[in-house]
Amino acid sequence: MTDLYAVFGNPINHSKSPHIHRHFAEQTGQDMTYTKQLVVDGEFAAAATEFFAKGGKGLNITVPFKLDAYRFADHLTPRARRAGAVNTLAAQTDGSILGDNTDGIGMIHDMHNLGWELHNKRVLILGAGGAVRGILQPLLEQEPESLAIVNRTHDKAEQLANSFHDLGDVRALKLEELAGQQYDLVINGTSASLHGELPPLPDDLLAPGACCYDMMYGAEPTIFLQWAQDHGATGVADGLGMLVGQAAEAFYLWRQIRPEVVPVITAMRRQMSDKNHK
Ligand code: ATR
Repeated sequence: MTDLYAVFGNPINHSKSPHIHRHFAEQTGQDMTYTKQLVVDGEFAAAATEFFAKGGKGLNITVPFKLDAYRFADHLTPRARRAGAVNTLAAQTDGSILGDNTDGIGMIHDMHNLGWELHNKRVLILGAGGAVRGILQPLLEQEPESLAIVNRTHDKAEQLANSFHDLGDVRALKLEELAGQQYDLVINGTSASLHGELPPLPDDLLAPGACCYDMMYGAEPTIFLQWAQDHGATGVADGLGMLVGQAAEAFYLWRQIRPEVVPVITAMRRQMSDKNHK
């Protein structure tokens, strides 16, 4: 029987997840369907209960329901517990629902595919929202030399640093404390670039050979990646690879097969740029 999967969100129309998972299913010969479902605010638990009651095997969860999914799950993986958010639900053989968070590991795998090394590197993260919380444990597991968090609202950066300091050298910095500091990897986890904005960063922030990663993506380089290129970054990447990477890890949780991400990223990139140039 064909296994049923879906992504829940609001809005959901532009979700690329069905497309990605169809690629994966084809590539690995899995008998499954994957649809997208618009869920009304406040009705996540009812919609998820109904989905699993009719035999659904797994869900991806996107904005704004990752906290609802965290609460809905019967069990959590350690990384989902740390993230405080769930992007993947999987029906277990005993009927219970497991909650996982594959966002961070998706980003780490993308960085590995790009050939970026994290071990012993000085890492700076811009932003302290839900998206950043989701990546901190997988990042710290790579044993960077240090991890600094800077956020427009400094208190939120402090709270995050405090909740993860048992996992490594993670600290909150104020924007002005960046003066004179240099980093090997800078990750933009703010939603500022969605509005074409950028936190005011010092010109000499990037160490020689530094890489910059934007968790956002678009057909054109984000404003943060433009800044990175103008300030001597050796490598830049946007969050398309992270999107496909988190999907691949969800697929692995559901099907115990790890699909190839690079052909899917390449196909999606081509599609995005074709659309943009039509
Ligand atoms: P998400 O779940 O995507 O992380 P969020 O929790 O709303 O969304 O977090 C958005 C992040 O982008 C926050 O770190 C936010 O900073 P504040 O905590 O000060 O709100 C940051 N952000 C959004 N717009 C920004 C801007 N124009 N300049 C700098 N930071 C911005």
